Amino acid sequence: MTATKVYTLEECKKHNTYDDCWIIMFGKVYDVTKFLDDHPGGGEIIVDVTGRDATEDFEDVVHSATARKQLEGLVIGDLHEDDKKRLRSTGGIAASGASGASSARNGAPSPVVTFIKAILPFVLVALAYLYQKSKASSPQA
Ligand code: HEM
Repeated sequence: MTATKVYTLEECKKHNTYDDCWIIMFGKVYDVTKFLDDHPGGGEIIVDVTGRDATEDFEDVVHSATARKQLEGLVIGDLHEDDKKRLRSTGGIAASGASGASSARNGAPSPVVTFIKAILPFVLVALAYLYQKSKASSPQA
């Protein structure tokens, strides 16, 4: 096993041109230089997201499984832990599902939210049933 290389944000920021382009997503560093010309969305759009966490930009487009597979082949290392923390505290390194989180958990929604979402359909069905029942049993005017 070879050790994973670790890069700082400062280092990544230097690779911000069409001829030398690194991007940061999911806490990892990708050298996408050779891929830019092949990107169906164009190369420039990727050069524009260098030097910061591009996870959200990538996820906003809803890339296919093929795109994610391609991504795996381009990884060159991890982002330095300190920079991961820094980006996280400034809203970077988007953890999927974070948008609905009600607190600063910066990850999956809280268990309470998950529970309420799970039981909501049953509660609605039960309420509809009770409403129908009460209507049926009440005397007609
Ligand atoms: C190395 C990272 C990336 C890979 C491997 C990649 C790969 C792909 C692939 C394969 C597609 C075709 C549709 C699909 O299969 O999902 C695509 C489309 C697209 N990508 Fe990316 N992408 C990357 C990064 C990005 C980033 C960072 C952005 C935005 C800043 C972006 C924006 C787009 C857009 C807008 C399209 C739609 C193009 C169209 O249909 O007109 N991509 N990408």
